[in-house]
Amino acid sequence: MAKITIKNEIVTFQVPDGEKALEYIKKNSNMLFGCEQGYCGTCLCSVVSGMENLSKKTDEEQALLPRMNANPNQRLGCQMRVIKGEVVLEY
Ligand code: FES
Repeated sequence: MAKITIKNEIVTFQVPDGEKALEYIKKNSNMLFGCEQGYCGTCLCSVVSGMENLSKKTDEEQALLPRMNANPNQRLGCQMRVIKGEVVLEY
């Protein structure tokens, strides 16, 4: 099991290795989502630590993140998968 911590909510929850994080974040935190398809950017969040434990950026992230002037440590919560280990996010 992988683990996600939402730093600004001080909440930690488990995600099966390799699963999309979306449903688990929605269930366990107040992070906002819109399209859930990688198009709107509502779910932009910062990876405080554990970037190496996330899946590669999806095509949607590669298209949208530069248009949002996102930092290299920012990802879309609706797109990422936690491959293993622990990831700390902040939004
Ligand atoms: S919810 Fe729209 S990009 Fe993630």
